[in-house]
Order: sequence, then C-alpha cells, then structure tokens
Amino acid sequence: MKPVKVGICGLGTVGGGTFNVLTRNAKDIARRAGREIIIEQVATRHPNPNVDTGTVAVTDDVKNVYTNPEIDVVVELIGGYTIAKDVVLGAIENGKHVVTANKALIAVHGDEIFAAAEAKGVSVMYEAAVAGGIPVIKAVREGLAANRINWLAGIINGTGNFILTEMRDKGRDFADVLAEAQALGYAEADPTFDVEGIDAAHKLTILSSIAYGIPLQFERCYTEGISKVTPEDVEYADELGYRIKHLGVSRRTERGIDLRVHPTMIPVGRPIATVDGVLNAVMVNGDAVGDTLYVGAGAGAEPTASAVVADIVDIARGYDAPAHASVNHLAFDKIEDVQVLPIEEIETAYYLRLQVEDKAGVLASVATILSERGINIEALIQKEPKSEETKAQIILLTHKVMEKQMNDAITAIEALSSTVGSVTRIRVEHLN
Ligand code: HSE
Repeated sequence: MKPVKVGICGLGTVGGGTFNVLTRNAKDIARRAGREIIIEQVATRHPNPNVDTGTVAVTDDVKNVYTNPEIDVVVELIGGYTIAKDVVLGAIENGKHVVTANKALIAVHGDEIFAAAEAKGVSVMYEAAVAGGIPVIKAVREGLAANRINWLAGIINGTGNFILTEMRDKGRDFADVLAEAQALGYAEADPTFDVEGIDAAHKLTILSSIAYGIPLQFERCYTEGISKVTPEDVEYADELGYRIKHLGVSRRTERGIDLRVHPTMIPVGRPIATVDGVLNAVMVNGDAVGDTLYVGAGAGAEPTASAVVADIVDIARGYDAPAHASVNHLAFDKIEDVQVLPIEEIETAYYLRLQVEDKAGVLASVATILSERGINIEALIQKEPKSEETKAQIILLTHKVMEKQMNDAITAIEALSSTVGSVTRIRVEHLN
C-alpha cells in the first residue's frame, strides 16, 4: 500500500520525540497502520541535539512543508497561536490532514480550524493536546460514546503537579522546582501558563467540549493558579486527610456546566489524590460506565510523541476511506450551546483558614456567620499561636454551598475585628 508521508513543523521537545519514536518504531508502526509512515520533511529553525535527521529534508520555512505536494499529513508541534495557526490552516487549505499537540490553538481557535477542515474533507487530530501520553481524547470521544457524561475532573498540567508534589514531599521551594520542570521540557514556553492554570484551562475546555457536545469556550473557564498555595495549607490538608491538587473540574448541572481550574482538596482515599509528579490523571463519570480513571505521563518528549504518533497512525489507517473524519472533531454532530456557570454559581465544599486574635468568643462569631448563611461545618481545627507574635489559626471544612454564599460569609468573617488579614479558601471536591 502507498506509504503516508509526514511533514513535521517544529523540532523542539515534542517534535524531537515524535521524530525519534516514528523512526525507532517504524516497523511496528507500519504493521499497525497497514502502510509505511515516512518522514518526508522537517521544518525547524534550531537543530535539536537529541535528533539525528539523517537524510530527511530540513527547511527553516514551515511554508515549504505545508505546501509540499509530496506531504499527506502535516504535524504541527510549534505551539502558540501565530505561526502554528498559519501552519494548520495552510495545511488544510492544501488538502492535508493535520496532527497537532497545540491545546492553546484548539481551545481558542478550534471552531474555525474544524470548520475549515470539514469544508476540505480533512482531519485535524489533537490527542496530544490533552494530558500528554494518556489517550483520553480517544477514550472520551470514542470509548465512552454510549454515555451521557455527568462530570470529569483532571490533573491536566504535569508541571503544576510536579511542583505541588515536590513541595509536599521534599519541602522544596516553588521557584526551584519550576526551574527543574523547565529543564526537563515539561513547562510551556511561558511557564505562567502552567502555574496560573491557563494551560489546564485550555485542556479542560477541550475535554468538556467533547464530553458534553458544547462549543469550545475557553474564555468562560474560571482559572486560578497554584502560586498562592502555601506549605501550611499543604500540611493542614494532610492533617485533615486530603491532598491539594491543581484540578480542572467540569460538571453537568441542571443550571448549566461548571468549567473551572483551581487548587482543590481531594480526600486521600480517591485514587486521583495520590497521582504525583509529572503524571496526569483524568476521571470521567458516565451514566452507563460509572467512574473511569486514566493515568499517565502528562508532559515530556516521548510520552507526548506517543499521542502524536497514534494520531498519525489513525490517519494512515483510514487514509483511503471515503469520509475521512469518521469521528466528529468535537465528538458530536450537533453542538448544543449550554450555559457555562459563572464561578459565583457553582456549588462545592470549602476549606477555610483564618488567623484570629486568641480570645474568647472568636470561634463562636465565625460559626454564627456561617450558620446564618446555611453553611454547615464538617470539621474544624483550632491551632494555638506558635509564639507571642503569631496569631491563632482556625481551619474549617464546610459542606457544599454556592460560591456566592461563601463569598458573602468570607467578607463578613474578614470584617470581624478579631480576624487578622484575609481568609484563605480552597475548594474541596469529593469526586463522587
Ligand atoms: N506544560 C504542559 C504540562 C505540557 O506541564 O502539562 C503538556 O501539555
């Protein structure tokens, strides 16, 4: 059978990994695809010391790849929204299938890209865009196609999980761990995307769209980063039987869809709570299947390449099929515009930590504020001041309440003369 010829744009961490995996496993990949997959050309401005491109043609201009008549599949591994978008739209315009690992591009410009691809009868595959090497797009889009998905929740940024794990287990400094994640090729070009939850929000946007058949709505995703998580909160979470994870949560409710990324306390008995290091994990609950959990490396050269190459194999397998995109790009034929709830409207449980003057009646006034707003306390710890200069601390876990009620309670607690500074709030999810 005629081989499928691939052009790779970008030879950085993931591009290099993809080149090496395609080359190293060429025989097995051809057996799986039913035809040879040949790297015809590579576009890069910087040689990758981990890659020997051998006799493969190398250019420094991506246009040479996406207009190359020999190439059947363009693999976009540049990242960002500018050149990457030109490559993807240029490839589609030239009738080529596209494989990309670019979550930002899909989350923000996916609707335009998929419409262009459908008009041309080509596919845009993006397994590597979410959760690195875990085939979670395939699982949700195809494996769970029978289900009405109720909710999903995931640790979907490897860098953030690596930082939180190292801080908790080794007491390491935030900046130091972030520098290591960058050196290991886990972090985004701009690491604030990892730390502030933007990268996870891109991925959650994509997952939610294919889970519920809703448009890509990155701009409506609530995003809060991990830079304010303190070692104290990590320690108290442990004491209460929880772990703090940077979680993307999306839930179908009667009032709309939750779409949010924030530090989250999870009971330690839930398997996802102990997924550590650069690993990612996604839980998906469907009405027929119940809970499912997908775990694996969320970043890094070859784990991400594993997902990129799987997409190339899928394209090669179905290359001569009449309607190439047998799976809708966003899983559903008809997309429904369901409302995404503003963060004030979500319902969740909370962990609160506040510093107070160590005097009689303080605890009672905090409890009164909560009970007046119908907020139930589930657990409470009071810590005596460690020295004369420090304050007492109250740590509370509440039952579920609407966020706007909790905002109101926090404002009232902060206004008490006995409260010092602001109240720390971490959302708690039991994932059931
Ligand atoms: N910066 C991303 C992460 C890379 O750390 O998860 C994989 O998408």
